[in-house]
Amino acid sequence: MRFIFPHMPLGFFDSGFGGLTVYRKAREILPQYDMLYLGDTARTPYGNRSFEAILRFTTEGVEYLFAQGCDLVVIACNTASAKALRTIQQKILPVKYPGKRVLGIIRPSAESLALRAEALSRRPHSGSAAVALWATEGTVRSDSYALELAKLAPDLRLVQIACPLLVPLVESGELSGPGLQYFLEKYWRATVEAAGLAKIDTLLLACTHYPLLYPPLRSLVPAGTDILVQADIVAPALADYLARHPEIEGRLARGAHGTGSERFLTTDQTENFARLASLFLGRDVAAERVEIGS
Ligand code: DGL
Repeated sequence: MRFIFPHMPLGFFDSGFGGLTVYRKAREILPQYDMLYLGDTARTPYGNRSFEAILRFTTEGVEYLFAQGCDLVVIACNTASAKALRTIQQKILPVKYPGKRVLGIIRPSAESLALRAEALSRRPHSGSAAVALWATEGTVRSDSYALELAKLAPDLRLVQIACPLLVPLVESGELSGPGLQYFLEKYWRATVEAAGLAKIDTLLLACTHYPLLYPPLRSLVPAGTDILVQADIVAPALADYLARHPEIEGRLARGAHGTGSERFLTTDQTENFARLASLFLGRDVAAERVEIGS
């Protein structure tokens, strides 16, 4: 089934639910626009999948949103951004969709880390400081953050830790308790070990599911380490992008009284999407089921 918007909604694509943390913040600061969120819940999680599978699934999701009238799509997933964004931007858009735009969430997050690195380098004894990130296996294996940071902050000491069990824990509603605590401690120990003698100045949550674990993580991680939540970086970066691109911003559909419409599409059961979405969004929403891909 297809839902055609009369104007161009702002599109968000994610492997499933995590992108809702980014969507939530974007909605908060850009409430005026019509928004369309697509979660590929039938094939989630993407975190441990191959490059080829993630590229195919992400391309199908983005093309689906294009077909609904979105000319701008945000890939609100690190794993999909890491594995598919560059190919979509460089090989698919110029040939098939020259007027459309796709944004990822790694570049703005890496820019934010680079800014911190700059501030760090001005501090005395900063040679012994590192920034760390937690992400899925796929994001860590892609080395996308390290590649971006090599350009933006070549002297920055980066520690990357794959946390494969955190997505299933979040999706099972395990947001506190001893089971979760065990894995948070395990991944934090690995982070400290990998940093060696360096003090961890910043921990970036480079998976859009992890903000739901912020409270127990904040209690675990020493106060001297700042924890960065991606939505707080990506949503303002999106607002900034729109301000710098009036040719795109001007085409976005918006609500008559300052509040745009929103729709949530899922590739699997709508009840399941609605249940987990309320966890990620902090409010209830209705979802519509769609088929994507071939
Ligand atoms: N939330 C996704 C991310 O930011 C990972 C979820 C998944 O594995 O599909 O990488």
